[in-house]
Amino acid sequence: MAYLLGIDIGTSGTKTVLFDTSGRPVCDALAEYPLYQPYPGWAEQNPDDWWNATVETVHSVLERSGVLPSEVASIGLSGQMHGLVLLDKNGKVLRPAILWCDQRTAPQAQTLTDRFTRERLIAITGNPAVTGFTASKILWVQENEPEVFAKCAQILLPKDYIRYKLTGIFATEVSDASGTQLLDVPARKWSPTMLEGLSIDASLLPPVFESPEISGKVSLPAAALTGLLQGTPVAGGAGDQAAGAVGNGIVEQGVVSVTIGSSGVVFAHTDQLTIDPMGRLHTLCHAVPGCWHVMGVTQAAGLSLKWFKDEFCAAEIEAAAQLSVDPYVLLDQQAALSPLGCNGLFFLPYLMGERTPHLDPAARGVFFGLSAIHKRRDLLRAIMEGVSFSLCDCLELIEALGLSAGKIRLSGGGSKSVFWRQMLADVFGRSVSAPFQAGGPALGAALLAGVGVGLYPSVPAACNAVSFDNEPALAPILENTPLYRTAHKRYQRLYVALKQEF
Ligand code: XUL
Repeated sequence: MAYLLGIDIGTSGTKTVLFDTSGRPVCDALAEYPLYQPYPGWAEQNPDDWWNATVETVHSVLERSGVLPSEVASIGLSGQMHGLVLLDKNGKVLRPAILWCDQRTAPQAQTLTDRFTRERLIAITGNPAVTGFTASKILWVQENEPEVFAKCAQILLPKDYIRYKLTGIFATEVSDASGTQLLDVPARKWSPTMLEGLSIDASLLPPVFESPEISGKVSLPAAALTGLLQGTPVAGGAGDQAAGAVGNGIVEQGVVSVTIGSSGVVFAHTDQLTIDPMGRLHTLCHAVPGCWHVMGVTQAAGLSLKWFKDEFCAAEIEAAAQLSVDPYVLLDQQAALSPLGCNGLFFLPYLMGERTPHLDPAARGVFFGLSAIHKRRDLLRAIMEGVSFSLCDCLELIEALGLSAGKIRLSGGGSKSVFWRQMLADVFGRSVSAPFQAGGPALGAALLAGVGVGLYPSVPAACNAVSFDNEPALAPILENTPLYRTAHKRYQRLYVALKQEF
């Protein structure tokens, strides 16, 4: 029997899942690692933590599932996007990886705009200069750590570092490469204009594949460490957003996904290159060859709730441990006790700056309207409402580009909460489908890997093998929608009022 392995290098941990060819998970494993924030706005990780987590989780799923290494037909990689990994000529990591949510590079993003103009950046890379994207991080290292950059022989994205460790090969693929801001997104290849303008030698960047293409094979040392068979094919894979979209069946126009992970993302497939001329949405290459996607990003979605849980909910964490339940279940129950509108409390989810719709690395999180009446439950609900408003902003911008959201599919850890799901339906004023929890980036990566070895003829055909939408859609509660609309307008005005202060 053939199985597919999906490995997702996330921000909080690496998740490895073994799937059968109908996309059913057979066994999964998660290994977490720390996020380092040495200064406000900085976010770094140790790439070897990702590799150790990969070795541990691959080993674990093989051992626990009883699936033979020879039955693993192919491996797909997915991972947090935009992170900068620098290697020396011996393949050694030169400094901690600078992550997608790191906001130190506002001056470098400005340099990009000054050097190329906003309009040219949007035309070539599908995006205006984005602090979190890789190009501005490279500039930061060039300027602030020239001795490190001088030793750099290879620039990689997080999942592509894992590819290197698994196969010994340097490679990337179009969806993740789009998030570097060095790719000519319409042409799907590195942009000589961007590389020349930033003094980046093309030899520092790996070859770019389409996502389902096989990029390399598991090496002997990696096989010895992981238990995989030497020679197992490794497909291009995709950045976590594109992979998650494949894992959610977002491979045609009209179906849009809303994902609440660390970040929050509204994602639409497009057959034709579609770019927001104002640059509020990202346009990137999709993992479906020859197609693109448009997405809006809330920087700190699940991350906002996790921050609040970790900093202020020690009692709930302890109670959850005693009851053997997920602490988020208890937080959810508390939030549900607060009324819609949280007694006048608002949360702006800008803990890590913001992308859509403001693209403002200086923005910071805000609780607005606090009074002595408020309880922890109001703060919890306000976080969920603020994130939902932000996602609604993303959805509205996508639809304004002419990409209809006939069907909205939820995914990501946050969507496990029925309470949050209903809130999203109410805020959007639309039905949302229940999440396909087995899916996510690991499934998308595995399906791409299956296409790569010919188990499916195409990415849409691979998605057809999986049954999404197997639970009824959740309809909005009609009386809630107008109340949320009013609150949403006020939420939008708060950023305008505070912009200068940020
Ligand atoms: C997408 C993005 C995040 C990260 C982390 O542009 O920055 O989704 O990939 O998940």
